[in-house]
Amino acid sequence: MTTGRFIALEGGEGAGKSTQARLLADALRALGVEVVVTREPGGTPGAEAIRKLLLEGAPGDDGPGWNPRAEALLFAAARSDHVEQLIRPALARGAWVVCDRFLDSSRAYQGGGGGLSDADILTLHAIGSMGFLPDLTLLIEVAPEAAAARLALRDAGGTDRIGGRDTAYHARVAHAFAAFAENEPGRFARVDGNGTPDETHARILAAAAPLLPTP
Ligand code: TMP
Repeated sequence: MTTGRFIALEGGEGAGKSTQARLLADALRALGVEVVVTREPGGTPGAEAIRKLLLEGAPGDDGPGWNPRAEALLFAAARSDHVEQLIRPALARGAWVVCDRFLDSSRAYQGGGGGLSDADILTLHAIGSMGFLPDLTLLIEVAPEAAAARLALRDAGGTDRIGGRDTAYHARVAHAFAAFAENEPGRFARVDGNGTPDETHARILAAAAPLLPTP
């Protein structure tokens, strides 16, 4: 039994990651592999509970929310549980894992957006998840106007505590993602996400082709 592959999808708000995770999983299943689709923060009961704390705040706390360090620790704790309980076991039994966000979201949001150093985020990941990394990270990039239009539809009922941060925060996030992809080309594939879902899916399949099993 060979182990599965771990593919993460990354990008800012409204990049279309969830749709693309589903389309990629369907394509992989058509090639005959078992696929687990999951997300961060979340993916296990414990990590989903932490997701609620992060995105909705602690019950009864109407204040400013988690400080940037507490926020980074909570993301790292959620990831630790997710890696240990869901991702590693799935890979070990030969399943592929497609994950909507992973470590690079912490580097971009808590680091680029929130001002923590990249070294600190990586230290938290070393402690929480022993530095575990995806085989491939797909960075889906969309123009800010396209992302805003998609978000207006998605978030008509209100946004969460992180998605609702100001434009300058999200611009720093996008800049950080782009810099990681630029500096770590062996780990990232950059995907233009401005077209239709099918067009982006085709680009993702092309980027993932070296990993894919032959039908
Ligand atoms: P989602 O809406 O894509 O599911 O992600 C939830 C929010 O959490 C989104 O605004 C990005 C943010 N986030 C971080 O700030 N750091 C992280 O490490 C992860 C995984 C997500």
